[in-house]
Amino acid sequence: MPQKMPVYASFRSIGAYAPEMILTNEQLETMVETSDEWIMKRTGIKERHIAAKDEYTSDMGVKAAQKAIQRANISKDEIDLVLCATVTPDYFNMPSTACIISDKLGIHDVQAFDISAACSGFVYLLSIAKAFIESGVKKNVLIIGAEKFSSIVDYTDRGTCILFGDGAGAAVISATTDKAEAIIDIHASADGSYADFLVTPSPGSVHPASHEAIDEGLHFVKMKGNETFKLAVKTLTKDVIEILKHNHIASEDIKHFIPHQANYRIIKAVGDALGLSKEQVVLTVQKYGNTSAASIPMAINDIYESGRLKKGDLVLLDTFGGGLTWASALLYFGGEDQKY
Ligand code: UT7
Repeated sequence: MPQKMPVYASFRSIGAYAPEMILTNEQLETMVETSDEWIMKRTGIKERHIAAKDEYTSDMGVKAAQKAIQRANISKDEIDLVLCATVTPDYFNMPSTACIISDKLGIHDVQAFDISAACSGFVYLLSIAKAFIESGVKKNVLIIGAEKFSSIVDYTDRGTCILFGDGAGAAVISATTDKAEAIIDIHASADGSYADFLVTPSPGSVHPASHEAIDEGLHFVKMKGNETFKLAVKTLTKDVIEILKHNHIASEDIKHFIPHQANYRIIKAVGDALGLSKEQVVLTVQKYGNTSAASIPMAINDIYESGRLKKGDLVLLDTFGGGLTWASALLYFGGEDQKY
């Protein structure tokens, strides 16, 4: 009997979308007691993109997905699973944003669902896509991280409104037998004992929609900023050291380190702890802010569109978010180089 070739999951393509409207630090200075200098010094963020009133999470997800499908050189009809990571879905909680995106893309009769893992959502999806593909159940999985974070931000709370932005990123993950273009490993984890660090209290079964909930601002994201910051540095660093060690890879072998874009100081601390050079660390937080589940794919798209990301490049992803959740991934980029 001929030996069956092992099947791997390959990160085949990337696409992203950032809404047209930009919210600058100078504009925020007129909204809350803050300054461009403080925001730059404490976060590295200069501006963030904000979706139009009638532009929804699914609309941004569709735009990113269309690019990813086109760049994967496949027809939308070859997609056999659609997954969306978001904490700002079109609807709380039916129908899923993945279902709406599938419909807008013209993808029908295909399994579609959302996951909620906050900023770790995209790497969580990667782990799900990898499992579906390696088990032989699916062949081309469309994964999307999309957020209209402005829909849950309180623009009178200076602790959060300076950080978050809107956007989407998407990727096609496909089956391959070529190990040189495969996702090598993914570590994903969670610790619910820190659930109160990042929370949107309402609507939900604890605080169903009510006038009181709205009056108390429970529909806005609440964050224990400094506590989250400290834990983020510790967890992101530990996570990366573990995945590199587990796969016998040295940090100098990484071509692109793409951490969650939450705060420049977190990224710098993790990069320094690993001894990574400036060229290895991808930085987009200055122009997009923290776009939660969209942050990692938007950053991957940035280096793809600027021609820095090439087929076969060794990429390390590292993320951290509400839940608390965290995840890291090691992969060889399996897509075609940017041609235009
Ligand atoms: O994506 C999920 C993961 N999320 C994160 O990783 C976010 C992590 N957290 C952060 O990025 C940072 O904690 C912040 C940027 C949110 C805050 O920076 P910080 O260095 O942790 O500041 P802090 O919260 O300890 O506050 C220091 C001071 C306080 O004033 P006092 O008490 O020292 O007088 C704050 O009231 O800075 C004040 N402050 C501000 N001042 C000007 C807080 N926000 C602002 C602001 N402008 N926007």
